[in-house]
Amino acid sequence: MLLLRVEKINQYITTLSESIEADTFVRLTLSKNRDKSSDLKKLLIKQAILKGKPHLSFVFRNKTNDVTKNFEITKGIELIKENLESTFFIGNLFTTRKNHSLEIFENGKQLLKSTAPTFTAAPTHQHDKSKNRLVGKSDFLKELGVLDKSGRVQTAMGDKYKQIEKFVEIIDSLLRKNESLFKEKSIKVTDMGSGKGYLTFAIYDFLKNKLEKEAEVIGVEVRDDMIALCNQIAQKVNFKNLSFEKGFISDYDLPATDVLLALHACDTATDDAIYKGIKAKAKLIICSPCCHKQIRKAIQKSETFDPVLNFGILKERQAEIITDTIRALLLEANGYKTKVFEFISTEHTGKNLMIVGQRHEGKVKTKSILKKIEKLKKEFGIEKHYLEELL
Ligand SMILES: C[S@@+](CC[C@H](N)C(=O)[O-])C[C@H]1O[C@@H](n2cnc3c(N)ncnc32)[C@H](O)[C@@H]1O
Repeated sequence: MLLLRVEKINQYITTLSESIEADTFVRLTLSKNRDKSSDLKKLLIKQAILKGKPHLSFVFRNKTNDVTKNFEITKGIELIKENLESTFFIGNLFTTRKNHSLEIFENGKQLLKSTAPTFTAAPTHQHDKSKNRLVGKSDFLKELGVLDKSGRVQTAMGDKYKQIEKFVEIIDSLLRKNESLFKEKSIKVTDMGSGKGYLTFAIYDFLKNKLEKEAEVIGVEVRDDMIALCNQIAQKVNFKNLSFEKGFISDYDLPATDVLLALHACDTATDDAIYKGIKAKAKLIICSPCCHKQIRKAIQKSETFDPVLNFGILKERQAEIITDTIRALLLEANGYKTKVFEFISTEHTGKNLMIVGQRHEGKVKTKSILKKIEKLKKEFGIEKHYLEELL
């Protein structure tokens, strides 16, 4: 029985390899994990060109988050084979010639089926930045010092440029997933703690010039020098509906907004921003937390985790995890479907966690979520989480 299963899997893998070679491959999905309790629900695989080389880009779809990893083709195919042999029951391969499905049953039987193709054209490989850049060589990048006068990325600004690109890619994907928002003619964004405005300018440029929306973007920032600089650049590059206002996030009277951003706003400023976003019923709340002092100080003890908390750096990491878990749960409790993921590789910045909440109208299990928060706080002797108090 096992032999037969391996044979069919081998046959399936050959079909996959041939489709990649012939450039007829569209995508592959592996689903139905044999271990129902596993967090890993699906693997979504596409082709991508990275640094000029073909790769397979894997999205590991977990219960609460997506993790993307890229592999060279041979390694990627090996990984797909391993996953069919040991993890997933179902494979759905889409090529421009045919769709091929493989189903493996509990008793070891398997079924290979080919049907008419869903897609008749191979996709342009999305990561091929040279073909399909979401961040152009726009003037605002020159004014902000990311690019030099001739449009080349300044040596010291490589990481910043990557961060901007990645951020815009995420915004693009989140908007496309939120159909009703994506269809809107005009999109309103508020960026809390906008700093020098790299990402504020980038989202305006993307909405206005790539998606051709009537974008209205406001940056809120406490530093006068940043406000003056950003408003001056916005004027210079003729970004008419981009403006920067001076203020503390906690005092800011947030008007109706579609997208609320809080990127690297310090400590509880992130909570202030999330709170404002929830109250304004923002459709998307996107934050990338920075330091986590409030919970670090509030942690008293933990029967289970005391040995961890005795190490300063581990206590700090633990505080980050607790702070952001409670933030994510509070977003869920307030009607947001929430994801937590790393948005850029740690080689470019350590501040790379992103929490995204998408507002929905479905049922919310508030009581059970709040219970989870209470339990977590009790475990660590935490009296209050700043955002919880605000809400
Ligand atoms: C680390 S910078 C991040 C800037 C920008 N969002 C980014 O990711 O590139 C944080 C900015 O938030 C501002 N900030 C911190 N707390 C704030 C508050 N409570 N209200 C308004 N701005 C705040 C700081 O002045 C600083 O410019």
